[in-house]
Amino acid sequence: MSVPSVPPEPTTPSDPAAPDAVASAQPEPLISEDAVNAAVDAALAAIAAATTTAALKRVRSEHAGESSPLSKLNALMRSVPGNQKAAAGKLVGQARGAVTKALTAREDEIGAIEAAARLLAETVDVTAAASAWKAGARHPISLLTERAADVFVAMGWEVAEGPELESEWFNFDGLNFDEDHPARAMQDTFFVEPTDAHLVLRTQTSPVQLRALLSRELPVYVVAPGRVFRTDELDATHTPVFHQIEGIAIDKGLTMANLRGTLDHFVQALFGPEAKVRLRPNYFPFTEPSAELDVWHPTFKDGARWIEWGGCGMVHPNVLRSAGIDPEVYSGFAFGVGVERAVMFRNDVKDMHDMVEGDIRFSQQYGMTI
Ligand code: PHE
Repeated sequence: MSVPSVPPEPTTPSDPAAPDAVASAQPEPLISEDAVNAAVDAALAAIAAATTTAALKRVRSEHAGESSPLSKLNALMRSVPGNQKAAAGKLVGQARGAVTKALTAREDEIGAIEAAARLLAETVDVTAAASAWKAGARHPISLLTERAADVFVAMGWEVAEGPELESEWFNFDGLNFDEDHPARAMQDTFFVEPTDAHLVLRTQTSPVQLRALLSRELPVYVVAPGRVFRTDELDATHTPVFHQIEGIAIDKGLTMANLRGTLDHFVQALFGPEAKVRLRPNYFPFTEPSAELDVWHPTFKDGARWIEWGGCGMVHPNVLRSAGIDPEVYSGFAFGVGVERAVMFRNDVKDMHDMVEGDIRFSQQYGMTI
């Protein structure tokens, strides 16, 4: 605690040089009413004039602090002759009380004004539109997938999904893949431990063909978009995770003409009325005959040309048998196309990295429709 410094006293009551008789003989008392009133008036005026907490703090120290006029008058009390002490004390005491009271009152007023101003400044208009809102974007893979599914839904097909962690049987055996088919090799397929559970990350959406046949009454018209996995390194044209759209139709009397007609409609809906499809003989274990599916459009970014897009064919009788369907009564077709590939040639994306890096600026170019 600091001890207030007391100004040196000019005289003391015991000072023989200043006896009571002499003091009382002076016309002016040591602490005059005028001096006290002047100090109080100055303090009250300053208090009233203060409009901020900081200003009031300065007023407090100037008019009620240690070196304020009132404090100085108070310090004179020691020198006031005994018979005048009571009156002088009352005078100074009341003056200090009045100043302190005025300070407190003004402090409350200013506090209230400042609090109100702060509330006003910090007001949040909950009805105002947020200015920091940033528009997101949907990924072109999702957009193209949904649009493709819509094309089939419009033809009365159903949309189905299958698991990404798939049993080896659905991914290979049930689809008529030989034991030693190269696609089954470790360098192409992610096998998942424990290996005796025979689980793989599906390498194609074709297992959904079987699942659709096993879970539905015939006829079946199903489109199955989804994510697939192969042990490719990520580079400009490959990614270990990509997307396919699978289709399967099984009914009485379906032929390759139905496959062609369906694919022509599909590519025209996705790429425009001038798009067309070309089928080139190929081999897949689960279709017979099988074909490579090329698509052509005059406005493709690098010019009109055929682009390989996927595979298709008539569903192999062994696959129908895997699903308990009599291939003498029912027939049908299946196809599978790559979604990344379609975004690449339709929208001129040159590097697969753009597709997987998740930079919103890439997706924003497509907006919400594709
Ligand atoms: N699943 C095949 C692939 O991934 C494509 C395909 C689907 C072929 C349906 C024929 C029928 O390459």
